[in-house]
Amino acid sequence: MRHFLTLRDYTKEEILEIIELGLKVKKEFKAKAQPPYLKGQTLSMIFEKSSTRTRVSFESGIFQLGGHGLFLSNKDIQLGRGEPVKDTARVISSMTDMIMIRTFEHSRLEEFAKYSSVPVINGLTEDFHPVQLLADYMTMIEHGMDKNPVVAYIGDGNNMTHSWMMLAAKLGFELRIATPKGYEVNATILKEANEFCKSSGGKIITTNDPHEAVKGSTIVTTDTWASMGQEDEKEERQKAFNGYMVDEKMMGLAQDNAKFLHCLPAYRGQEVSEELLEGPRSLIFQEAENRLHAQKGLMVWLDLHR
Ligand code: CP
Ligand code: NVA
Repeated sequence: MRHFLTLRDYTKEEILEIIELGLKVKKEFKAKAQPPYLKGQTLSMIFEKSSTRTRVSFESGIFQLGGHGLFLSNKDIQLGRGEPVKDTARVISSMTDMIMIRTFEHSRLEEFAKYSSVPVINGLTEDFHPVQLLADYMTMIEHGMDKNPVVAYIGDGNNMTHSWMMLAAKLGFELRIATPKGYEVNATILKEANEFCKSSGGKIITTNDPHEAVKGSTIVTTDTWASMGQEDEKEERQKAFNGYMVDEKMMGLAQDNAKFLHCLPAYRGQEVSEELLEGPRSLIFQEAENRLHAQKGLMVWLDLHR
């Protein structure tokens, strides 16, 4: 049995296999010929933070595969009132077939997985958001942008950045990360990703200069400057990230056919301009839709590997 906690635990072949499966179920779904691969199965979805895309994609996804999703907000379940993770994990996994969790500390997800008897999927932690990267790379494949990509990530060194690092390190492409001073990526995760790069041919460059990162890149991406849980730091972060907004001018430094990705929700006029977000280089809504298809691929894959 496999969990899906970070891309760290997956090989290049496995990551591509999951995305290929996602593309296959996408095709079947669009043709209105979706086989019920997970007929009668239940997916528990525990949310300790807000969500639009993750909730709707997992809940719709499991239903379209012939199963049923249970939305479990921490406002409603005993976990939110202090029931231990290890008890919740053993109880819920004895009743459902798969579990998705969105939570705070990554260690809380790891503890849950340790005690779960069914596959656990990371729906976002403070350190990683790997299901988003499955959708992002699927979108790159659909646009033929997966051939020697050079990805520039501009902004906060956060869960999205760490997930891009793992993807670049596993698949073997170049990732340039530009963050303001004091908002750099986690040094331990960077070290680990660099180790994987040695065998994959990947390359991770970190800088404080967004222009240097974007120059000649094929994909430009960013994320909110204040993640969930950092609401109190909003003002201070807006000052620190001055000059890091990705706009048409900054995109002008990338290759002519470069595309823009954003996991959403996006904050217009902060990390990204309205013009770029709504313009022809932006793939954001296809990227968001692909959350559904990529995660359906993931759930089918995890079911095949138990
Ligand atoms: N990108 C993403 O995970 O969005 P939600 O927070 O809406 O789930
Ligand atoms: N970095 C953001 C991603 C939201 C999908 C957050 O953690 O809030």
